[in-house]
Amino acid sequence: MKRRDFLLAPVALSTLPALSGCAGLNDYLGNLPARLPDAPAIMSPEFMVEAMLKLADVRAGDMVYDLGCGDGRIVIAAALRGARGVGVDIDPRQIRLATERAAAAKVSDRVRFVVTDLFNMDFRDATVVSLYLGEEVNLRLRPKLRSELRPGTRVVSHEFSMGDWQPETRLVVGGRYLYRWIV
Ligand SMILES: C[S@@+](CC[C@H](N)C(=O)[O-])C[C@H]1O[C@@H](n2cnc3c(N)ncnc32)[C@H](O)[C@@H]1O
Repeated sequence: MKRRDFLLAPVALSTLPALSGCAGLNDYLGNLPARLPDAPAIMSPEFMVEAMLKLADVRAGDMVYDLGCGDGRIVIAAALRGARGVGVDIDPRQIRLATERAAAAKVSDRVRFVVTDLFNMDFRDATVVSLYLGEEVNLRLRPKLRSELRPGTRVVSHEFSMGDWQPETRLVVGGRYLYRWIV
């Protein structure tokens, strides 16, 4: 820290209580994830979204949960196939984007987007769960998936496996792995 910064630091700190009452700062903080996300906001390319929905055999009557939904593309594509869906993301900015994209696609009545940590989400009514998170996150999520999902629920994961929970199907699509488990 330069001498000038050091001198200014107490002044800067003393302005924080005042700033925290400022709408701009509150908006800024309210738009940040509550904690560091477990996976980065890198979306599945459209060809992979299609492959995931096809492998999960998504159709009207399904309830599709995308855990870590990003801009909502998987849930929206599922809704365009007649399913209903819930997208969950820890990042409020992603959920806002997903909500706008759902409105633009005219599927808002069939989808719901929720800002929360996916580990706290109740997804017991899912018939399909989609994941693009990471092997370590999948492993932490695995007990919850296996204990809470109903028998017959399809779980698809872009790129990442579930350790020794053997998938029922594994494909390579465009050089990426795609897995399906049936609970
Ligand atoms: C790799 S992106 C996948 C986006 C989307 N599912 C797709 O396949 O296009 C992972 C997303 O998970 C979200 N995420 C990471 N950790 C999370 C957590 N603990 N709870 C909810 N969302 C989380 C990130 O904010 C990010 O948007």
